[in-house]
Amino acid sequence: MEPRDGVFIVIEGIDGSGKTLHSRNLCFQLRKKGFVCKNTAEPSKGLIGRLLRDEFLSRRKISPEIETLLFAADRFHHIKYDILPMLRKNSIVISDRYHYASIAYQGAQGVDIKWIRNVNNFVIKPDLAIYLDVPAEIALDRIRRTKSLMEKLDLEKKVRKIYLDLVKEKELTYLDANKSIDNVNEEIFNLVIKTITKKQKKEM
Ligand SMILES: Nc1ncnc2c1ncn2[C@@H]1O[C@H](COP(=O)(O)OP(=O)(O)OP(=O)(O)O)[C@@H](O)[C@H]1O
Ligand SMILES: [Mg+2]
Repeated sequence: MEPRDGVFIVIEGIDGSGKTLHSRNLCFQLRKKGFVCKNTAEPSKGLIGRLLRDEFLSRRKISPEIETLLFAADRFHHIKYDILPMLRKNSIVISDRYHYASIAYQGAQGVDIKWIRNVNNFVIKPDLAIYLDVPAEIALDRIRRTKSLMEKLDLEKKVRKIYLDLVKEKELTYLDANKSIDNVNEEIFNLVIKTITKKQKKEM
């Protein structure tokens, strides 16, 4: 898709790693510094995003391949109708999850990662994609979801492993999120300010 001017930041991590909390805090802090900042998330608020949210809420289980395709369709909508328009207005856009989550979650369920990448080949590259790393036990303890915890724990462990592979491949920037909220906040903020400054210098 077409180029843009704003700054695009992605926050990734397993369930309970702190993505939503830190995405919101980050935008709040950036606004205090005078930046225009917008929060967004996947699944999006579009038609397919709502379908995906309903699916997870009702715990219906569809095949991970179909999930991959639906997430990709939702992502296309998210980029075209939410992310790009906000970036064109020079906003900083913080997305709680992006295609890395498809690679990690559908990959953990056995879908071929190359195929997931192919299906998502339209994505625009973020300026920074932070991975909040927390061991699965600790992350699940934070959200205390009762749902067959063992099964969930198993999946989240596999998901974490794929996220860590993406860190090794330098697609994601590692951040130890098994620290106090203030600590994690500060580290995210510093990484983001560095990215914004670097981008501004390039444009001068
Ligand atoms: N560093 C931290 N230390 C302790 N608790 C934290 C930390 N970060 C987040 N939390 C708490 O953990 C819970 C989960 O955080 P949050 O909802 O942001 O996770 P998430 O990654 O968005 O999860 P999900 O993928 O399920 O949406 C919240 O109650 C939040 O306040
Ligand atoms: Mg969340």
